[in-house]
Amino acid sequence: MSLIITSIDESGICLIKINRPDKLNAMNADVANELIKLFQKIENDESVKVIIITGVGDKAFSAGADIEYMSNISANQSEQYAKLGQLLTYTVENVKQPTIAAINGFALGGGCELSLSCDIRIASDKAQIGQPEVTLGIPPGWGGTQRLMKIIGIAKSKELIFTGRLVKAEEAKTIGLVNNVVEHDMLLDKSMQIAKRISANSPMGVRMSKLAINKGSNTDLNTGLNIELLAWRNCFTHEDRTNRMTEFVNKSKK
Ligand code: COA
Repeated sequence: MSLIITSIDESGICLIKINRPDKLNAMNADVANELIKLFQKIENDESVKVIIITGVGDKAFSAGADIEYMSNISANQSEQYAKLGQLLTYTVENVKQPTIAAINGFALGGGCELSLSCDIRIASDKAQIGQPEVTLGIPPGWGGTQRLMKIIGIAKSKELIFTGRLVKAEEAKTIGLVNNVVEHDMLLDKSMQIAKRISANSPMGVRMSKLAINKGSNTDLNTGLNIELLAWRNCFTHEDRTNRMTEFVNKSKK
């Protein structure tokens, strides 16, 4: 049984499903390694314009890192496992294509952290999201202490991480943790709709926007504006910009 299921449709939308439903799609090292390899491969596939990631089954996006594995490992092994999780979330965050997490149930610990590394989060009305690591004696270790605060702010992030409380979909939307909440059965349709809208735009324009936002959010305004300038200029060397602007001008003249 494959741990990851992938399909690409004619609009260039790649759907990735974590396939370990009997363990609520918990990510052991094999799942994490397969996801990393897959994202590295997709990044170089020009036919892929948008990536959607979700979990198999009705219950979980992913219940996080594998607790059974972690229950018995040394500090050195834990460091390797956290490095793997951090590499996974870094790879997902920085893949060239825009990414959508379709959160179809529990997104906990590493599952929440995987969704935080996506560009857009859409939640089913059955979703529950949280960082319950402290209930197990550890802090979040796959980027959660850093990315959650950038998305929902330091105070709310501390509250959720210190209490380990899970938030339901509507609250997740209110605090800005997810972009939108949709009926459970409509989750993939709605995620596809957003992906299709993005895929109709210039891939170069979208990629350069993502790069400027991602790199700019980790630096000061002046450096960020310089990154924006380079991203903008880069698009003027690309046929996508030439074709789209020329088409607009010609259409206006008709
Ligand atoms: N790692 C490994 N296995 C996990 C897991 C995880 N993070 N989360 C769930 N599972 C496994 C359970 O052990 C169980 O396996 P089993 O059927 O072989 O016993 C199976 O998935 C179903 O989980 P179960 O706990 O029976 O489902 P539930 O509906 O009663 O509870 C949760 C759902 C999500 C509340 C509960 O599974 C949970 O708290 N999981 C851990 C979440 C977590 O702390 N994640 C952060 C890890 S750092």
